[in-house]
Amino acid sequence: MANKAKKILVTGAAGYIGSHTLVELIHNGYELVSIDNLSNSYASAFEGVKAITGVQVKNYLIDLCDLAALRKVFKEEEKIDGIIHFAAKKYVNESVKFPLLYYHNNLESLINVLQCCAEFEVPNLVFSSSCSVYGNAEHLPVDENCPLALPESPYAQTKVIGEQIIQDFVQVNRLKVSLLRYFNPAGAHSSGHLGERPKQEALNIVPRITGAAMGKLPVFQVAGHDYPTRDGTCIRDYIHVSDIAQAHTLALEWLIKQEDASLCEVFNLGTGEGHSVLEMINAFEKANQIQLNYSLEARRAGDVVAIYADNTKAKNVLHWQPRHSLEEMMRSAWEWEKNLQNKNFD
Ligand SMILES: NC(=O)c1ccc[n+]([C@@H]2O[C@H](COP(=O)([O-])OP(=O)(O)OC[C@H]3O[C@@H](n4cnc5c(N)ncnc54)[C@H](O)[C@@H]3O)[C@@H](O)[C@H]2O)c1
Repeated sequence: MANKAKKILVTGAAGYIGSHTLVELIHNGYELVSIDNLSNSYASAFEGVKAITGVQVKNYLIDLCDLAALRKVFKEEEKIDGIIHFAAKKYVNESVKFPLLYYHNNLESLINVLQCCAEFEVPNLVFSSSCSVYGNAEHLPVDENCPLALPESPYAQTKVIGEQIIQDFVQVNRLKVSLLRYFNPAGAHSSGHLGERPKQEALNIVPRITGAAMGKLPVFQVAGHDYPTRDGTCIRDYIHVSDIAQAHTLALEWLIKQEDASLCEVFNLGTGEGHSVLEMINAFEKANQIQLNYSLEARRAGDVVAIYADNTKAKNVLHWQPRHSLEEMMRSAWEWEKNLQNKNFD
């Protein structure tokens, strides 16, 4: 395979999307090294990756906000061909309560990564952005040219500013970048070895649905039922995490092939379909033959009403095609939840 010798540094690799992406990268012949301070994840993610691929990924347990420690990793690893930068804090409502924590962690870590790209001549970078940069978009589905709205939360603001920092950086540095705007990743690896296992309480809808079904939460609370949507609940574009993971290898391959020394391209990663919270509950119940105990509650701060992707660009340019259905997403998430109960994790 042509890309066999390429060494990729994955930050936040023990996290939900990072760990699934390690599997895809290994299957595509990349050599990997990880940086994760395990602030929102466990080293068991690397065991899951090993169980699927047979490969033990080396992790540097450092904080990306520590530039001296980061430089040491680059010196030790020598030539790095690309970076996938997942590491960030990601909870909208936590960011509303603790904005400085988010600006500090998400932006300082990005600035340090870019600093090392310049110092150690790393040619390729994939950055985890989010559909939250679109805010309450005026037109749906949103494509990449949709003007960025006023972000609804400090978390979203860190993605908007992060994208801007990268755009400014590539004007004066040799770096090829894919900014991937994820919609709502959900589901788990089909093997049952990987899934979402945050240290903090899971706040995304699917782990909260499975958590309520498992009895870890007394009830699944629907946050807001008076939105101007078809059933009053928020609409999102849920995309299987393995489809998101695959898009990273395609984005990396695409970057490596580009002849320009500097570029920055944005891609939406979503299915193109929006589902309401009540439709998600229904999909979970149908896929797993379980009745969910849920309640209709007040809105949360920072939530947009409805958003789903125009994914034409990722399909045409990266040749990416989401493959997993909503049913597979709900089934794999439930299998993972059951595994979490049964496995003896560290
Ligand atoms: N999951 C989603 O719904 C979603 C949606 C859109 C965008 N994103 C973005 O995708 C990326 C990955 O998300 P995820 O769901 O895998 O999150 P995650 O919390 O599971 O993974 C992030 C990882 O980064 C690590 N990390 C955070 N700050 C660090 C630091 N300063 N130094 C070293 N390690 C650090 C954490 O320990 C964690 O393992 C994030 O940038 C997130 O903002 C996620």
